[in-house]
Amino acid sequence: MHIFGVIIWLGGLLFESAISVPIAQAEGEPADSLANKIHTRFVAFVWMSVWTIAVTGIIMMLLNPQFHWFTFQTQWQRLLGFKQLTFILMLFYAFGYARMLSYLNAPSSNDGTDENTTLVRQRLSQFRKINIALGITALLLAAGM
Ligand code: HEM
Repeated sequence: MHIFGVIIWLGGLLFESAISVPIAQAEGEPADSLANKIHTRFVAFVWMSVWTIAVTGIIMMLLNPQFHWFTFQTQWQRLLGFKQLTFILMLFYAFGYARMLSYLNAPSSNDGTDENTTLVRQRLSQFRKINIALGITALLLAAGM
C-alpha cells in the first residue's frame, strides 16, 4: 500500500508534466481547460495517496525494531528522518498546488489572459516540478534504508 500510494502520486505528477500540460500548451483551448479539469480531479487522488503513504509509513516505522523515537544514530534512522522531512515539504507544495488550481477554476480567473493567471500557471508548473524532484529524492532515500 505504501508503494502504491507513491506510484499514484509520483506517477500522476509525471503524467501531468510530461503529457497533459505539453498537449494543453500546444493545443490551446479547449485542451487547456480540459487539462485543468484533469489536474483538479487528480488533486483528490493526491490526498488519498498522502494519507495512504503517511498511515502505512507510520505503521511500518512503529513495527520496525530499528526505530527509536527521535534518535538518528543509525543510517536507517537518518534516512527515514530525511524522507519524512521530504514528505512534509511535498505536502506543503501539494497544498499550494491545490490552492492555485482552485484559483484558476474560479469564475473570476476565467479569461486566462490576465497577468495574475499567467503567474499562477507558472507557479503551478514550478510546484509540480519541485514535487517530482522531492518524490524522486524520497524514493532514493527509501532505497537506501
Ligand atoms: C513521498 C514520500 C515517500 C516515499 C517516496 C516512500 C517510499 C518508500 C519505499 C519505496 C519503500 C520500500 C523500500 C524497500 O522496500 O526497500 C518505503 C519503505 C518505508 N517507508 Fe516510505 N516513503 C515515503 C514516505 C514515508 C513516510 C512519511 C514514512 C513515515 C512516516 C515512511 C516510512 C517508511 C518505512 C518505515 C518503510 C520500511 C523501511 C524498511 O522496512 O526498512 N515513508 N518507503
